[in-house]
Amino acid sequence: MIAITGANGNLGKATIGFLLKKIKPEQIVAIVRDPKKMEDLKNSGIQIRIADYDDLESLNEALKGVDKLLQISAISIGDQGVKEEANVVTAAKQQGVQHIVYTGAVKPKLDAYFMATQQCLATEKAILDSGIPHTFFGNSLYMETIPIFIGEALEHGNIYYPAGNGAVSFVSRVDIAEALSNVLAGNGHENRRYEITGSKAYTFKDVAAILTAERGIEVSYVNIPNVVLAEELDKFQMPDEQIVWQLSLADSIKADEFSYVDDTLEELLKRKPFELKEYLRNL
Ligand SMILES: NC(=O)c1ccc[n+]([C@@H]2O[C@H](COP(=O)([O-])OP(=O)(O)OC[C@H]3O[C@@H](n4cnc5c(N)ncnc54)[C@H](OP(=O)(O)O)[C@@H]3O)[C@@H](O)[C@H]2O)c1
Repeated sequence: MIAITGANGNLGKATIGFLLKKIKPEQIVAIVRDPKKMEDLKNSGIQIRIADYDDLESLNEALKGVDKLLQISAISIGDQGVKEEANVVTAAKQQGVQHIVYTGAVKPKLDAYFMATQQCLATEKAILDSGIPHTFFGNSLYMETIPIFIGEALEHGNIYYPAGNGAVSFVSRVDIAEALSNVLAGNGHENRRYEITGSKAYTFKDVAAILTAERGIEVSYVNIPNVVLAEELDKFQMPDEQIVWQLSLADSIKADEFSYVDDTLEELLKRKPFELKEYLRNL
């Protein structure tokens, strides 16, 4: 049996969609904390089990009889996020899971600016320490996050973001899901690390130029100071902890922590990955 955590999220649900084309639905266990969010797959034949990353007992129940686990990284940040992800690994070990596929960050470094990267590294260490065979997906930033960065640029023509000249090898989340399904349904991926990126890295100036060319609207990139982003986020009553997290993301992009490009995704998909230009054309 193959279980997926975060199964009702964007990545989890897309992965299940691809898996349903490859294996029998009874072999799929979707682990969620709110089964109402799986209404659309209620009659698909997959098993839906309830667990919370913060509740080890519920994870142990949900992972009974599971051979392979797709552990999708948590949403919680800081120590809480590390604890939740460690709980999943502990339960997997206790239930005799044979293989964990974990989605982390591309080319993670212990001194990374991005706080989530450090969180993912802590989980990778927990998985390695558990001795469970692993496959690590080192994901670059999802293309689908671009609207968060560019805001209303298509209306007023400016992308305001403190990323300097940092480049990002944006990757389609749907492509990642398909690649994950290939790994989960396939063999020979144990104890491998895959850097999952788009085929090219783009600065925000590049993104602005593509929008201009594809959308016929003049778009420019304005590199703002971190403090301006922090003030804007504060206006939306974002908690300080999350503002610090957002700034760590901007700093990481500026420092090229997401600029690495690798062709592993193309190998896993056996086709070219989705291009940023196509995504921006249809945004
Ligand atoms: N590379 C990137 O650009 C990028 C961007 C965003 C996120 N991420 C990471 O990639 C992961 C997957 O992305 P996504 O787009 O699928 O995110 P998503 O749509 O927000 O899905 C996150 C999933 O995690 C579940 N979850 C959160 N806290 C949980 C808990 N305590 N116990 C059990 N389940 C919990 C959510 O369940 P509920 O619906 O019940 O909350 C949801 O199913 C994210 O969780 C995040 O770590 C990466």
